[in-house]
Amino acid sequence: MRYLVTGANRGIGLELTRQLLGRGEQVFAACRAPERASALQALKEEYGERLVLVPLDVSDPASIAASYDLVRQHADALDVLINNAGISAGSEPLGRVTQEKLLENYRVNAAGPILMAQQYLDLLRAGGAKKIVNLSTGISSIGTREHGGMYSYTASKAGLNMLNKNLSYDVAPYGIVSIVIDPGWVQTDMGGPNAWITPDESVKGILNVVDHLTPSQSGHFFHYSGSEVPW
Ligand SMILES: NC(=O)c1ccc[n+]([C@@H]2O[C@H](COP(=O)([O-])OP(=O)(O)OC[C@H]3O[C@@H](n4cnc5c(N)ncnc54)[C@H](OP(=O)(O)O)[C@@H]3O)[C@@H](O)[C@H]2O)c1
Repeated sequence: MRYLVTGANRGIGLELTRQLLGRGEQVFAACRAPERASALQALKEEYGERLVLVPLDVSDPASIAASYDLVRQHADALDVLINNAGISAGSEPLGRVTQEKLLENYRVNAAGPILMAQQYLDLLRAGGAKKIVNLSTGISSIGTREHGGMYSYTASKAGLNMLNKNLSYDVAPYGIVSIVIDPGWVQTDMGGPNAWITPDESVKGILNVVDHLTPSQSGHFFHYSGSEVPW
């Protein structure tokens, strides 16, 4: 199957790319600077044409359009879009919240995935699996939030959750399933070294959820373990 993974040069995106290639899929690995993505370059040596490196900045609509043109040169359909790229403004205590960070997080974490889905819709419609997977976070759950801080990150991901809900209805007529998923607290640059699980563990869980998705689960919010996260 043909997968597109954003933010594929490190962290969860790199591990998704590794595991997908390892099981025989074709991967379009999108990242801001493929020429500096040494881990992806090494995978390219190993997997050749099954891995296509795609320049992509998800906060830039022109870059999203250019990525589509490149992918289109290699494929006339896409099975699974994984919107993984994300940023965090960190702990952000009240008093240090800025408009700039709020909007920057929204641009990457919320607007990026919906614009990607919109751009790639025709390729997904032509695909066999027809899935859109958006990396959210458990701390975007409003119902379970018990403290403050992290304004930009949590709100941008809560925005993503709503955008995905809308998207799930709009793509349903085409048989496309679209979900948000919490990868757990993962040992990456974003998660830090004290996080609970490795990228390997998280990605195995994510792919297990994605592999078994059914149309009735579209619009839902999953944990990487397969359980549902309350809104
Ligand atoms: N790690 C966790 O514990 C955790 C928990 C919950 C949710 N998540 C979510 O899981 C996803 C992956 O997280 P991670 O831990 O792997 O983070 P990470 O290690 O910080 O990696 C983030 C990835 O996103 C890319 N990215 C950032 N801004 C981008 C942009 N404008 N355009 C394209 N790519 C961009 C980065 O590329 P550059 O190298 O170019 O910066 C990098 O590849 C994120 O959406 C994150 O919010 C992570």
